[in-house]
Amino acid sequence: MKKILLTLVAMGLVAGALPAVMADPASDLKQFQAFFKKKFPTVPFDEFANGLYALPGNEEYRDQWNLMNEFPPYEFGLTNGMKLWEKPFKNGKTFASCFKNGGKNIAQGYPYWDESSKMIRTAEMDIMDCAKRNGEDFQFLTADLDKDTKARVQLAEVTAAFYSLSQGQRIKIDISAPGAIKAYEEGKKFWWQRRGQLNFACAHCHMDLAGRNFGGNQPLSAALGHPTGWPAQRIAWARIETLHRRYVTCNSQVRAKPFKHGSDIYNNLQLYETFNSSGLPLTAPAMRN
Ligand code: HEC
Repeated sequence: MKKILLTLVAMGLVAGALPAVMADPASDLKQFQAFFKKKFPTVPFDEFANGLYALPGNEEYRDQWNLMNEFPPYEFGLTNGMKLWEKPFKNGKTFASCFKNGGKNIAQGYPYWDESSKMIRTAEMDIMDCAKRNGEDFQFLTADLDKDTKARVQLAEVTAAFYSLSQGQRIKIDISAPGAIKAYEEGKKFWWQRRGQLNFACAHCHMDLAGRNFGGNQPLSAALGHPTGWPAQRIAWARIETLHRRYVTCNSQVRAKPFKHGSDIYNNLQLYETFNSSGLPLTAPAMRN
């Protein structure tokens, strides 16, 4: 961590200023995507769905990643998730019964604003809600998802199964409702806010430093495409995990206190990140560094 801090100081980023950001979602989207197209002019748009492996300078990581994808280590977790997705509940129904089109080709619209509950809903929330409404008693329904790894991973595996049914679908998020816009604005604020002992915003690492490698073996992805591969399996974690778990880790990395898995602020952040990746194809579950 000390090494990282020194590198950042050397890059002149710790005291650097972020651009002022005030715009509506549609112009945000244009600016956000233009930023990365300009920064990485040789990267075809769809490639951004492949995280850090899309970026120039990461060719060695890309080669390793290609090799890994021949027998992807997430297959084990995905199979677990798919079994749960297909296994009949005690009442004979399945997860598919709770979703439009049986859950196929709909994940590109997540997270979404739900007018009746007046909240942003993630796939994890809909999956949990489905299990509850059908009288199931999965551990992830009652567990503390920050502490109970087993329960969280099980939820991540079912969510990965759900996302896998939408692979290749292009992200399309509706934020026309006033409630959705408000949630988006909150996610945006969080994205640009400095935090933690390093006093770093998400934007510092995933915009300014995207494509750089600090601390020796730590390549940084572009924010464009961030949520496309999640739930994902990191090599270091060796299990499928949720996007919120990744957020927790990124908050801890700058020594900020993370928020709770499933908290409103992470839902809003997910909305902000996902909306700004509009048009990219879903690739989840994916392997990641
Ligand atoms: C100190 C630098 C740092 C900061 C600040 C940071 N991250 Fe990260 N983040 C990383 C590293 C390192 C990784 C793993 C390599 C990669 O994919 O970029 C990562 C990965 C991610 C990923 C997974 C990307 C993928 O393609 O799978 C997401 C999503 C993410 N970060 C979101 C955020 C958000 C949101 C914030 C702000 C709350 C944030 N990060 C702040 C360092 C940082």
